[in-house]
Amino acid sequence: MDSILVKGGARLQGAIPIAGAKNACLTLMPATLLTHEPLTLTNAPRLSDIRTMTALLQSLGAEVASLQNGQVLALSSHDINNHRADYDIVRKMRASILVLGPMLARDGHAVVSLPGGCAIGARPVDLHLRALEAMGAELDLRDGYVHAKAPAGLRGAVVEFPFVSVGATENALMAATLAKGTTVLKNAAREPEIVDLARCLRQMGAQIDGEGTSTITIQGVDRLGGATHPVVTDRIELGTYMLAPAITGGEVECLGGRLELVAAFAEKLHEAGIDVIETERGLKVSRRNGRVNAVNVVTEPFPGFPTDLQAQMMALLCTAEGESVLEERIFENRFMHAPELMRMGARIDVHGGTAKVKGVDRLRGAPVMATDLRASVSLILAALAAEGETLVNRVYHLDRGYERVEEKLRACGATIERVKGE
Ligand code: EPZ
Repeated sequence: MDSILVKGGARLQGAIPIAGAKNACLTLMPATLLTHEPLTLTNAPRLSDIRTMTALLQSLGAEVASLQNGQVLALSSHDINNHRADYDIVRKMRASILVLGPMLARDGHAVVSLPGGCAIGARPVDLHLRALEAMGAELDLRDGYVHAKAPAGLRGAVVEFPFVSVGATENALMAATLAKGTTVLKNAAREPEIVDLARCLRQMGAQIDGEGTSTITIQGVDRLGGATHPVVTDRIELGTYMLAPAITGGEVECLGGRLELVAAFAEKLHEAGIDVIETERGLKVSRRNGRVNAVNVVTEPFPGFPTDLQAQMMALLCTAEGESVLEERIFENRFMHAPELMRMGARIDVHGGTAKVKGVDRLRGAPVMATDLRASVSLILAALAAEGETLVNRVYHLDRGYERVEEKLRACGATIERVKGE
């Protein structure tokens, strides 16, 4: 397993290109299952999760060609000859559940492994299943799989989500495009990745209104066509790299970044003493003066502060002046980066979904372990500002969501390299 070795202390200067959004691409790719026509995705990120979704779609009989060094994905589901998504692929990536709605909507049947939990929580899929049942799907859960049927096709329904779920909104949205009649999704997720999916589906011929608000209305159509669609910029990668100059000092321009993708996050950075300026090329980020101010953070569904930036923000606040309180309201176990940061001298007190962080002058390098995707990059950020060397182990987590992280940071003056594992 590879590791990443960082020697901290450099103030970063330069520009970092932001890639297409992993979490948009992971729902855009299964949309190929809704049509017999070709779907082309441009600005696709080059990540192991994308390769996993590619393998899953190919196991169903879809053709997925990765072109231009992985930045373009050409998909076609003309000949789906297998409607079973196996556990050995689904357990590696929970987003695999997003093939359920599309397969059911177009072909009337699907067998998809339940994803199981992951490091940050149990992450059930009950909201996905209830939405599809509301649209007439017959679901039978047995031997760890969802056996789903809709012999007469899906029908429009009013689906009210008890709480916001990104994945359940995506599964229901895709299924509703081919359901007979009108579907209304209430308390729907408002994330930019949902807006991106709706724009692509509309290009394919879907009739959708209200994406980006809490109520999405879909008028089902008989069939969908193909499309060519650019994947939206990754707001989580953007926020992560905005924190690099924040934690080290210096100034970095995040190319392709747009303020509306990270408004709540940028507001918090401003409160912490970090300036975010819109330029023609993206967002330029620098510290307003010496230290970083302590701030309080509560994670919420979009447009609130993203849970996927909580670990990275904690790294910054470990070096802030004063005490910060971070409340994680989306997942039940998303503070696993805290004990690793404490190995670097951070002062963090975790009680349930709340973490109190007392800022220290300097973190100190230490060997640490990545536990999940966003925790791993939080440790890299801390290492950039720490005194001495930090070895971050198990960086396969990192490669799921960040392409060429060491190259992008080295280009801004960081001393960082990948150490090949056995
Ligand atoms: C998506 O996961 C993202 N993944 C996550 O990013 C992100 O953290 C999350 O949305 C929240 O923004 C992808 O888009 C591939 P949810 P998802 O359904 O859809 C509970 C990353 O780092 N829930 O909005 O799985 C769930 O357990 C990843 O890129 C149910 O109880 O998130 C969680 O506590 C991590 N039943 C909460 O709702 C359900 O049926 C929000 O989950 C569905 C969800």
